[in-house]
Amino acid sequence: MSGRFITLEGGEGAGKSSNLEWLAEQLRASGKTVMLTREPGGTPLAESIRHVLLNPSDEPMAAHTELLLVFAARAQHLAEKIRPALERGDWVLCDRFVDATWAYQGAGRGLDAEAIAQLETLVIGESRPDMTILFDVPVEVGMSRAGKRAALDRIEQEDVAFFERIRMHYLQRASHEPGRFRVLDAAQPLEQVREQLNPLLEEMLAWP
Ligand SMILES: Nc1ncnc2c1ncn2[C@@H]1O[C@H](COP(=O)(O)OP(=O)(O)OP(=O)(O)O)[C@@H](O)[C@H]1O
Ligand SMILES: [Mg+2]
Repeated sequence: MSGRFITLEGGEGAGKSSNLEWLAEQLRASGKTVMLTREPGGTPLAESIRHVLLNPSDEPMAAHTELLLVFAARAQHLAEKIRPALERGDWVLCDRFVDATWAYQGAGRGLDAEAIAQLETLVIGESRPDMTILFDVPVEVGMSRAGKRAALDRIEQEDVAFFERIRMHYLQRASHEPGRFRVLDAAQPLEQVREQLNPLLEEMLAWP
C-alpha cells in the first residue's frame, strides 16, 4: 500500500501554511486520511534541528552546516513520519520539502549542485512527491505579508536578492518538471488562490 505525497513550496509569505489545513480538509471530505507536516521539522528531533537552523545566533552558521542540518532533519522526518504514513496508505501534505533545499541552499546560498544531488539521493531515495504546488509571489509581496508577523528568523533576515534567486529557481524547477509541479499565482487574494487549488484537488482525487 502506498499513499500520496504532496508538497507545498514557495518563498516567505507566499501562503503555504495558510492553505495547508484547507487542502487537508478538502481531501478528508473526500474520505482520505491526511497527515499534515512541515520542514524543516515534523518530528520532535527534527523540530529541534529546525530551532538550531532558524534561531539567529551570534556565531554565523557556515553554509555547509546549514545544508547538512536541513538534510539531517529531513532524514529523521522521512524515517519517523513520512515513510510510515505513506506505507499505511495515508496522504502526506508537507509544507516545504527538498525543492526548498535546492532553492534556499542551492540558489540562495550558492552551494554546489553536485553536493545537494548526492545528499538528495542518500536521504530521499525513492520518497519523492507525487505533486508539488508552487505558491509563486513577487518577493516584495511575500516579504510584506511575512513581515507582519513577529521577529524575523535567521533565514528571513537575508536580503532581497537572496529571495529573488530563490523565486527564480523555484520557477525554473517547475518549468523543468511540469509533470510534478503546479504553479499558482499566489499574489491573488486567498479566495482566488483557493479557486486555483480546486482543479488540483480534482486532479489528485482522480489518481488511481
Ligand atoms: N492570498 C493571500 N492574500 C493576502 N494575504 C495572504 C494570502 N495568503 C496568505 N496571506 C497572509 O500572509 C501571511 C503569510 O502567509 P503564510 O504564513 O501562509 O505564508 P507561508 O508561505 O507559509 O510563509 P513562510 O514561508 O514564511 O512560512 C499570513 O499572515 C497570511 O494570512
Ligand atoms: Mg509557513
